[in-house]
Amino acid sequence: MTDICVLGNFVADNTFYSEKLPTKGQTVFGSGFQVGPGGKGSNQAIAAARLKSKVSFLGKVGDDEYGKMAIELYKKNNLNHKTVFVSNEHPTGVAGIMVNQTDGTNAIIVYPGASMEITIDEVNKFSNLISNCKVFLTQLEIKTDVTLHALKLAKKGNAITILNPAPAIKIEDEFFKYIDFFTPNETEAEFYFGKKIENYDQAKEAGDFFIKKGVKNSIITLGDKGIYFTNQSSNFAMPALDLKNKVKDTTGAGDAFSGALASGLEKKMDIKECLKFAIKVSGISTTKKGAADAMPFANDIK
Ligand code: RIB
Repeated sequence: MTDICVLGNFVADNTFYSEKLPTKGQTVFGSGFQVGPGGKGSNQAIAAARLKSKVSFLGKVGDDEYGKMAIELYKKNNLNHKTVFVSNEHPTGVAGIMVNQTDGTNAIIVYPGASMEITIDEVNKFSNLISNCKVFLTQLEIKTDVTLHALKLAKKGNAITILNPAPAIKIEDEFFKYIDFFTPNETEAEFYFGKKIENYDQAKEAGDFFIKKGVKNSIITLGDKGIYFTNQSSNFAMPALDLKNKVKDTTGAGDAFSGALASGLEKKMDIKECLKFAIKVSGISTTKKGAADAMPFANDIK
């Protein structure tokens, strides 16, 4: 039984921690390094599974050590991974991440490897799963035609669809009518909206713009300013957790939010309760290092 189906990528995150991020042409010493599971899709799937939702992760890895890391991760976190394709031609993707240890902010380069090679035909093998799940969650770290196809499959059934439009890349307008929840962060929202978003008023304007485009609900995540929610009948801001100097690494905070949102929706939480829950999960994830490894468990939320 699957409550949440996540389509997306797995990559191995190679993360460097340092007091400040290097500028162009500069070399700085790091204070730490780790290799761990990442990839927006996989992180979101782990976040939801750790909150006790039944999750299937649909993606592609290589036949190599990092591919094994992914499968081990899914086994350990009780995800259905029969939906993970293993490529003999392409290596598992990797990401190079630099984290500023003073405020937890980061810069990321993703080399998607095998994850980018998942095809429409492969996705079609799990069309029933996609159409019959309660919540279908995806991002933009695989090919966009595959993502759009899967969103259509999900809407053919009764699934609630969530698109976390990350990384920000150009998508066809057709996408918007298949999206129940659109969850950009402020930088991504600026990209799709075409204007700066520095306060709640501007977030409201962007939210209204996304609703006019066809999404049912827009949730713009605004880092330490919380979130801004918009739909046809209401709009409001909600503050972030006050974490003071507890933030260690913000990598995957947006993934924690989208995964928790999916979990809350699948459990039929009322929207305000669901948003509070997702804000809390996302905030807690920043107090630990890593991406998937930093996702809190249901017990951590209490
Ligand atoms: O959202 C964070 C993730 O983005 C990282 O885990 C990295 O792999 C990139 O996909």
